[in-house]
Amino acid sequence: MSKQRVSRRQFLNYTLTGVGGFMAAGMLMPMVRFAVDPVLKTEAAGDFIATKQKVSELTNEPVRVDYSYEQKDAWYTSEVTQTAWVYKNKEGKIVALSPVCKHLGCTVNWGGDKSNPEKFYCPCHGGLYEKNGKNIPGTPPTAPLDTYPTKEKDGILYLGQPEPNKYVK
Ligand code: FES
Repeated sequence: MSKQRVSRRQFLNYTLTGVGGFMAAGMLMPMVRFAVDPVLKTEAAGDFIATKQKVSELTNEPVRVDYSYEQKDAWYTSEVTQTAWVYKNKEGKIVALSPVCKHLGCTVNWGGDKSNPEKFYCPCHGGLYEKNGKNIPGTPPTAPLDTYPTKEKDGILYLGQPEPNKYVK
């Protein structure tokens, strides 16, 4: 058996160092976590966002669907509002088009031009698009409207992030 004894001074040193270290770690950990957490959290690509649109209410007539969601940019959270023009095509598939004109980014409306009631119309420079988003030659836009990936859950329409139009061949 060892006869080495711990002096009162050593005992106090060990105890205070241990307790002090424990308390410092307890204070530092939340700070480190706060600093690093948003960077480590990655939003899964292709996240779908719930709208308030019931899928059963969609027809072959495009309707405007506005929806909003919280966007986290590292430490900053903001509310983003987006719009889609949504309808069911002849095959019964849901088509969701971006309203952003491919000319200079104005907002297109379904039937916005009285002389072209069955087309998307951009009021800024008279851009026209077919129902599937195809840009009509002779008008300013040079590309089809983007589309949103769609998903149905509990009868509600979910939309993903805009992507190049897959309905225009
Ligand atoms: S921005 Fe739409 S036609 Fe120019």
